[in-house]
Order: sequence, then C-alpha cells, then structure tokens
Amino acid sequence: MHLPWTLKYKPKTLSEVIGNEKAKEKILQWIKEWSRGVPEKRALLIYGPPGVGKTVAVEALANDLNMELVQSNASDYRTAEAIQRFAGRSSQYGTLFGRKRLILFDEIDGITGSADRGGLREITKVIRRARTPIILIANDPYDPRFSTLRKFCELVEFKKPTMTQIIKLLTRICSLEGIRAERDALKVIAERAEGDVRSAINDLQALAQGKDKLTFEDVAWLGRRDRKEVIFNVLRRILYSRSLTGALRAANEADVDPDMLLEWIYENIPYHVKNPKELAAVMEMLALADVYRGRATASQDWSLMRYYIDFMTAGVSASWSKKSPGWTPFKFPSRIMTMSKSKEEREMLREIGLRIGRRCHISADKAAKDVIPFLKVIFQNNPEMKDGLARWFGLNEDMVKFLSGEK
Ligand SMILES: Nc1ncnc2c1ncn2[C@@H]1O[C@H](COP(=O)(O)OP(=O)(O)OP(=O)(O)O)[C@@H](O)[C@H]1O
Ligand SMILES: [Mg+2]
Repeated sequence: MHLPWTLKYKPKTLSEVIGNEKAKEKILQWIKEWSRGVPEKRALLIYGPPGVGKTVAVEALANDLNMELVQSNASDYRTAEAIQRFAGRSSQYGTLFGRKRLILFDEIDGITGSADRGGLREITKVIRRARTPIILIANDPYDPRFSTLRKFCELVEFKKPTMTQIIKLLTRICSLEGIRAERDALKVIAERAEGDVRSAINDLQALAQGKDKLTFEDVAWLGRRDRKEVIFNVLRRILYSRSLTGALRAANEADVDPDMLLEWIYENIPYHVKNPKELAAVMEMLALADVYRGRATASQDWSLMRYYIDFMTAGVSASWSKKSPGWTPFKFPSRIMTMSKSKEEREMLREIGLRIGRRCHISADKAAKDVIPFLKVIFQNNPEMKDGLARWFGLNEDMVKFLSGEK
C-alpha cells in the first residue's frame, strides 16, 4: 500500500505551506494577541477554495507554537450537544500543564439542514465566551447561514498559490522521490490543478510514482476536462456507491466522456476488487457495457447508450461487495497513455497510408494494414526498390526514414 504523497509531504511548519503569505501573517498576528489577553475577535474564519492548505496551515501553526489542537469536522458536531461536548469545556480552560489550546472547527460548510441550525448557533455561543483561540474553516464564508457567526470572526482569505509556487513544490517532491521531472511536465500538472495543491500532488503521484523520470510526453495527453480530482471522485462514487442510482448519478453529473470513463473504470477495478469471482462479475458488466456501446455506434441508435452507461456504473457497483482494500491510489488508464505516446506514429502511418491509397485505390486504413508491413520489409532490405517505390508513391524523406526503420 502506498502512502499518499499529500500526507507524506504534508507541511509540518507554517513556512512549508506555500503561498498565502498575507494570510499566514494575519493568523500569526491574531494568535499572538492571545498572549496579551482575549482579543476583540475570539475566532478566525479561514476561507478559500479546496486544497490550498487551509487545514494544513492550522495544523502547522499548532505544531509551530506547540499548542494542543482540538480538532474535528462537521460530521462530529451536527448538534448543539455535540458541540458542547467537543468545544464547550475546552474553550474555557487551557490544559493542565499550561500548554495552550487551539480549537478548530473544520469544514463548517458541511453543517447542513435545519436540524443543524442549532449547531451553528451553538458554535456562535462557544465563540462569544471563548477563552482559548478558535479557528473555523469554510469554503464559502458568505453563505447566509453563517451571517451571525461571521460577525464574531475575523476573516482570513486563503487564495490559490501561483503556478510557479506549485511547480516549485512539485519539483521538490520529485527530487525527494528521486524522479527527474521535466519542467514542462510539471507545468502541465500544475496548470490542470488550477490552484488546487492537493490535486496537483495527487496527479503527480499517479503519474510519476515509481518512475525515475517524468517527461512532457508522459503528461501531455491529459485533457483539462477530465481533471483527475473530478474523475477520481466519480470513480469512487461509482465503485463504492451503496445504491444503483448513486452510481448512475455519479456518471451523469460528471462532465466526463463515457469512453474515457470506461477506460478509467477498466484500469482501476483490479486494484479495488480483490475477490476473483467478484472481479469476473465486474468485468462481465464492463464487457456488456462495451457490447452496447458497439451496438449503439453500429446502428446509430443512441438510445442504446443508456444501457452502456447503466452497465458500467450501476452494473459494476452492484457486482461486488465494496470492501475497500485500504487506501489505493487511482491510476491513469495506461491504454490511453500508450495510445497517445504513439500518436505521432499513428499519424505517420495514416499519411503514408493516404499516399499508398491514392496509387492503389484503397483506403488509408487498408493500406496501413495490408501494404505498409510489406513496404517496411522492402525498404529495409532492398535500396533500389526502395527508391523506386518511394518515388512512385510520392513519399517524403521522413516517410522513407520511417519505413526504413531509421526513426
Ligand atoms: N499551500 C500548501 N502548501 C503545501 N502543501 C499543500 C498546500 N495546500 C495543500 N497542500 C497539500 O494538500 C493537502 C491538503 O491540504 P488541506 O487539507 O490543507 O486543504 P484545504 O485547503 O483544507 O482543502 P479543503 O477545503 O478541501 O478542506 C495537504 O496535506 C498538503 O499535502
Ligand atoms: Mg480542509
């Protein structure tokens, strides 16, 4: 089992948290105020997009200042009672031996529904009386539900680190992993992550782990649309969904090309479904999906696509017991990777095929399949015939080199 690199390279001190210098400064200022008594705002509300280091910054801060971090997230404090249990008393006193305490309410966006209104009210109450620093984290602090709460908090915005900062971090990780990475490759990964550091690190791990080098070609095939974080979530929801509709919905809601999705599922299933019988059943579902895809394409009857999607989502999900083998990284479909690696080759074959086709009145495809293999043998063994044929087909220098196996 692998350790996720987001854990392995998780910042231990605030200085390792990339970007957000202003925000970090503001947090430090505020926490220092506490040593001079209770400050005007007893809580900080840190907000910003996912994966930019909000949670990790608070953990690093507590570590730097040797504070005890009392930490939990939304599922732990849905009700007023739970909040009292979690933070009521600890917000009143320090620890016995004078170690300072820091209370963290993480992911408060996760508090939902009317039953949880009481929860938010209770948090506000805790803040108003707090004698220890409290930090809250949200993605969207301007959610109307937080309007009262917000008044008692100092707001700190976390922004997406810059491309350069992310590339620098990825470079550091690569060198620690002993991977020689081309800057352009890391740039592609950083750009795709759109400021989400977590997702950049996850992408890097999926693409580079175990390799000794990472080239631009290794990553160039990644489309922006099928961003990995998105597709990983979709995969997780499909594979581990507890209901058929859930699995189906995951696919429908995702803006992911179905053929691409099939490749992803196909590639990743063996790492998750460990029981051979279940694996066979799951593969059978993918095979059926593929049959329907074939029929839909052949008959142009796109209503059949429904079954294609049903089999690869609900069908797959229903065919196994969903016992997670522990943390398993999702993998990029290697078939697509190799296909794109040989993209140049395929283009070359097609160009040559077209020229042969023009002379022999056959399709470029047929030429590539039936004629080129023989041409290769001739080109590599008989220079005279090679020149003649090259002239007759009108092949350029690159094509001749390709057929002669010089490239
Ligand atoms: N600014 C950063 N510097 C270094 N590593 C980072 C940074 N931001 C994120 N990471 C990496 O990504 C992981 C996740 O970060 P973190 O949990 O802090 O994100 P977050 O902003 O709290 O996201 P969410 O809103 O989804 O909770 C960290 O463990 C770390 O490995
Ligand atoms: Mg977080």
